[in-house]
Amino acid sequence: MARITASVYTSHVPAIGAAMDHGKDHEPYWQKLFDGYEFSRQWLKDNTPDVIFLVYNDHANAFSLSMIPTFAIGTAPHYPIADEGWGPRPVPAVEGDSVFASHIAQSVIQDDFDLTIVNEMAVDHGLTVPLSLMCGKTDAWPCRVIPFAVNVVQYPVPSGRRCYELGKAIRRAVERYDEPLNVQIWGTGGMSHQLQGPRAGLINREWDNAFLDRLIADPAGQADMPHIEYVREAGSEGIELVMWLIARGAMADANGGPAPHVAHRFYHVPASNTAVGHLILENPS
Ligand code: DHB
Ligand code: FE
Repeated sequence: MARITASVYTSHVPAIGAAMDHGKDHEPYWQKLFDGYEFSRQWLKDNTPDVIFLVYNDHANAFSLSMIPTFAIGTAPHYPIADEGWGPRPVPAVEGDSVFASHIAQSVIQDDFDLTIVNEMAVDHGLTVPLSLMCGKTDAWPCRVIPFAVNVVQYPVPSGRRCYELGKAIRRAVERYDEPLNVQIWGTGGMSHQLQGPRAGLINREWDNAFLDRLIADPAGQADMPHIEYVREAGSEGIELVMWLIARGAMADANGGPAPHVAHRFYHVPASNTAVGHLILENPS
């Protein structure tokens, strides 16, 4: 059967992608941030999965106010890179896994979660920046990727509890797949940030680090946090962090197994006007 071996969590700040694309990653402003991903790039080389199930949010590029799926699973064979207003990022297109994604859709929908099935979709910085952070500059991503888009842009957005339970359903779906695939699940977005309004630029280091502590040690408790607390403490875009709970719910301990090993933890301020957080959790084999 397929197995979820690890989960990766990371911010997706678009300026990080621009820094890489324009060769600014070794400038002093960016160097400290990229240093925090050096371990991760080697780790991913040493632990390359067959498939990454990549939980992210679209920022009104593939979707818009005319259509807002809460949870959308990519079942396409390929995904082009979105043009977010200044041309598509110069990164490889994403290869999907239609058969496996369709199996997950079947299992998760039969497990009572409503998913939108997407056969054609461009992917934006929410998906490409985590891949760039973890893989560096490359001509080809190291494995197939199943994009899983979550609406955290337009209210109402899904609760942390629902995201955590969805992660458990995704784990069940993976374990019902009759191929010996090594699967990682990535939860992306966050950490504290607010891009508009009187509180633009808000960053809350203490809250972010408490979130990381709790995501590791008490994810079920973290899943009970209401939206208003994310918005109040982590800014209007801090709500992206509920996506990390989908990946966390797919880990062994959320499903009666042993606790994960914390392979890596990193936190850095600032990147553009946000805080960057990053974790790698491994399931005991
Ligand atoms: C910015 C955009 C994002 O989607 C995000 O998650 C963080 C920062 C930005 O425009 O700076
Ligand atoms: Fe974002």
